[in-house]
Amino acid sequence: MRVRFSISKEHKMNLRTLAEKFKDIYLIEPQGMSSAPGRVNIIGEFTDYNDGFVLPCALEFRTVVLFRAREDTKVNVHSLDYPTEKDSFTVGEKIISGPSQWGNYIRAIVFVLIRAGYSLRGVDLLIDSNVPQGAGLSSSAALEVAVCGAFNQIADLGLTAQRIAVYGQEAENDFMDCQCGIMDQLISAKGDEGKALLIDCQSLETESISIPEDLILVIINSNYPRKLVDSEYNQRRLDCEQAAAKLGVATLRNASMDKLVSIESKLTVNEFKRAMHVISENNRVIKATEALQRNDIDSLRELMSASHQSLKDDFEVTVPETDGLVEICQGVLGDKGAVRMTGGGFGGAIVCLCRSEDVLKVKSAVDDNYEKQFNLKADVYVCKAGEGLKVISL
Ligand code: GLA
Repeated sequence: MRVRFSISKEHKMNLRTLAEKFKDIYLIEPQGMSSAPGRVNIIGEFTDYNDGFVLPCALEFRTVVLFRAREDTKVNVHSLDYPTEKDSFTVGEKIISGPSQWGNYIRAIVFVLIRAGYSLRGVDLLIDSNVPQGAGLSSSAALEVAVCGAFNQIADLGLTAQRIAVYGQEAENDFMDCQCGIMDQLISAKGDEGKALLIDCQSLETESISIPEDLILVIINSNYPRKLVDSEYNQRRLDCEQAAAKLGVATLRNASMDKLVSIESKLTVNEFKRAMHVISENNRVIKATEALQRNDIDSLRELMSASHQSLKDDFEVTVPETDGLVEICQGVLGDKGAVRMTGGGFGGAIVCLCRSEDVLKVKSAVDDNYEKQFNLKADVYVCKAGEGLKVISL
């Protein structure tokens, strides 16, 4: 079988061997472990930074951070994913970008915590992650949330899960130059096992929504190399903000479809299309939440298909590879499943909701068709909703 398939990806090391590795590197035992998951979004794409609604769930893939506080102000970081790279910086000095891209996420968290007025000491960190990278499954949010969770514990900052998520988002916005919304960090911090989280991105209120036991989440990574994602992403956000300004509302959350249509001529084509997507997507999230609660696959299929179409035509963030995967999977599932692209777009993954007896059909259809059409191999993950940030003493 050519499709790479895993029920869950193993971590490179179990906790005991990871702790031994920590001791090999730092000559001392770790004092604690902080771990946070990646996420898949069921529906509600690009609505978060428009103060709208999203319905993601945490994955069982996690980023694990072992930590020990230091007496001085040095932060040392090693990662099993990048064994030849390490990062080191001082919390007392101005925090600037370093040579390691993943190391910059740790710098970014330290930057926002210090900016918020917390006084931090140095720390030794060792990171291991099985969240697929570059798949649009929020490996960076998992890293930010896990690292922030570690500092919260070490310095006894008393941060709530919501605050940790907000600092994670600030780290992206103000240090990493990605103007993302709050969805990824909030679900990573607050995810609930077996449940999706309906998030109101204006109030940051959340409601856990049980995923029916017979519904399986199948995630398929297109492995399409994502390029220029941040600049395109930031441009979409600008289009939305300009549309909101012309509609006379603070954010598109408060805009109506009727008003949008009535002032179409005042908007650029892109502003109009982006706003169409956001306003209609917010509506779909609320309906999909109710459909999930009823275990109503027909409604979920309609809503998820409409979401995908809108992301393709109006928000213009899909690529032929993710469109093709959606077609292959929807084609084989027929009325037995719901499918759409998921996450930040421009490649990345799609998500299918289906029953367990149909999972193999999805895998074979992807195996038979995707590589033939796109000359790329897909990764298929059969997932359950995992839990959010966890911090323990060792
Ligand atoms: C990325 C961002 C999120 C969200 C999604 C699209 O994952 O980090 O804030 O905007 O894209 O829904």
